Amino acid sequence: VASSTQVPAAVDDDLLAEAAERFGTPAYVYDVREPTRRYRALREALPASVRICFALKANGHPAIVSRLATAGCGADVSSEGELAAAERAGVAVEDTVFTGPAKTPGVLASLMRRPIGLVVVESVHEARRLASRGPEQAVLVRVNPARDVIGEGIAISRFGVDEERAAQAIAEIEALAGISVVGIHANRASNVLSADAWLAGARDTVAIAHGLGPLEIVDLGGGPGVAYGGEEPFDVRRFTDGVTTLAGEGFGLILELGRWLVAEAGWYLTRVLDVKSSRGEVWVVTDGGIHHLYRPLLREANRALRIVHGEDRPTRRVNVAGCLSTPSDVLATAIDLSEPAPGDVIAVPRCGAYGRSHGLQPFAMHPPPAEVCFDGDDVRVT
Ligand SMILES: Cc1ncc(COP(=O)(O)O)c(C=O)c1O
Repeated sequence: VASSTQVPAAVDDDLLAEAAERFGTPAYVYDVREPTRRYRALREALPASVRICFALKANGHPAIVSRLATAGCGADVSSEGELAAAERAGVAVEDTVFTGPAKTPGVLASLMRRPIGLVVVESVHEARRLASRGPEQAVLVRVNPARDVIGEGIAISRFGVDEERAAQAIAEIEALAGISVVGIHANRASNVLSADAWLAGARDTVAIAHGLGPLEIVDLGGGPGVAYGGEEPFDVRRFTDGVTTLAGEGFGLILELGRWLVAEAGWYLTRVLDVKSSRGEVWVVTDGGIHHLYRPLLREANRALRIVHGEDRPTRRVNVAGCLSTPSDVLATAIDLSEPAPGDVIAVPRCGAYGRSHGLQPFAMHPPPAEVCFDGDDVRVT
């Protein structure tokens, strides 16, 4: 993708229609400039002691990862594939954090070839498997906090070592050869829309770290949310102010952001194949489906789907179905859509995170959607 210095063009319906025309549907369209814009805004607002990593699991498209890497963003990876993708995209291994919850022999072998920035270990046993194999590696111990102080979003538990046993685990891991424990990690919740709630979790994680003896680094994980259903958006200013205050407590902080960096950069496109009535309801049948928007949250995002260039038409209450032969393949129910007709393109906004990377693509052997990148100049598949 060519870089662009001109005034950015908006991702409007003309562009989405062009992407569908040139590359077919279903497709994901990414504005590859948006994640970098967001990264830069955070970078400027946060002190240098806060490291920002992009969680590739949200969207590992090379055009997105390489732009973020060029801007200085690190990577949070959780598999051999993501580790290799981050490296190919230009992320230095020192700026890479490995956070997979179950490290396979293959993953350990890749990590053993050379130390990377940080490896997050999930248990004493896992640390032993790492220690017995290779050169000195700095690790964070993942802690499973005792209290859910966030109270919203998708709560994440079961990973890591229970907070109550963390001190003992750190002592045992520290005693292993070839490993040095430099801090802890906790990824507490995903899609948290209240910055105050996210910060309450972060403060609790930092408090846990204070109680565990001399440590340098606290990795606060990901979690800032996206207003899929038109809710109040995540307050970035409150977030950066709060993280800046926390950074004053003396730890090097790490953020592993996925959804917030990339969700708004993506649209999912699907074409209407048929519009039919069944038992009193109108069904719009499309060439897409839940195999491409699998996350329940993205299915909520479907409330915002719209017909491309449909703004001048009257609306009609419809259900929107995908192309799979399962009754669960429903993209939206009872939504008001601009009078849909076969051939129309439907666009679903905020699909840049956990879209393709979290899909069920193999189901029914439909061809995979294209990933179309827009860089301000052109749309293209890279
Ligand atoms: C360890 C870890 N870090 C970061 C993230 C990114 O989370 P989010 O997309 O909510 O920012 C995840 C998501 O599952 C994760 O498991």
